[in-house]
Amino acid sequence: MKISIGNDHAGPDYKKAILEKLTSLGHEVTNYGTDSTDSVDYPDFGHPVAEDVSSGKSEFGILICGTGNGIAMSANQHKNVRAGVCWTKEIADLCRRHNDANIIAIPARFTSVPQAVDMVEHFLATEFEGGRHATRVNKIACS
Ligand code: RB5
Repeated sequence: MKISIGNDHAGPDYKKAILEKLTSLGHEVTNYGTDSTDSVDYPDFGHPVAEDVSSGKSEFGILICGTGNGIAMSANQHKNVRAGVCWTKEIADLCRRHNDANIIAIPARFTSVPQAVDMVEHFLATEFEGGRHATRVNKIACS
């Protein structure tokens, strides 16, 4: 599976662990994230990942910042992108099942590295349920 990943200075360790896990599982991962804890601006890392997902270059995206919110807000400006902030594996599961999210946004300052890896694995393994959820998802975009 083709996946793009991006993170700000809150997430290098999280990104590294997720990248290692996904690569070990045979996924092709494009990494846009910083490897430094020097302060950067999260939109600079959210937009390239969202562009890959919006264009179809990548099937899924993974974004990491302190709260998950700023980087998800940036990604959600892109057409066909649905980025959801997840902080438990159950929410990651429902974000796919009910919202057809194509980007998971992880709050590095409010979860652990093993939890983050676990959430990503759940996210990627879960299918959208469609049906009544498709009706709702089709009402999300404004243009
Ligand atoms: C960076 O300090 C922090 O603002 C950022 O990682 C994120 O939490 C923004 O939403």
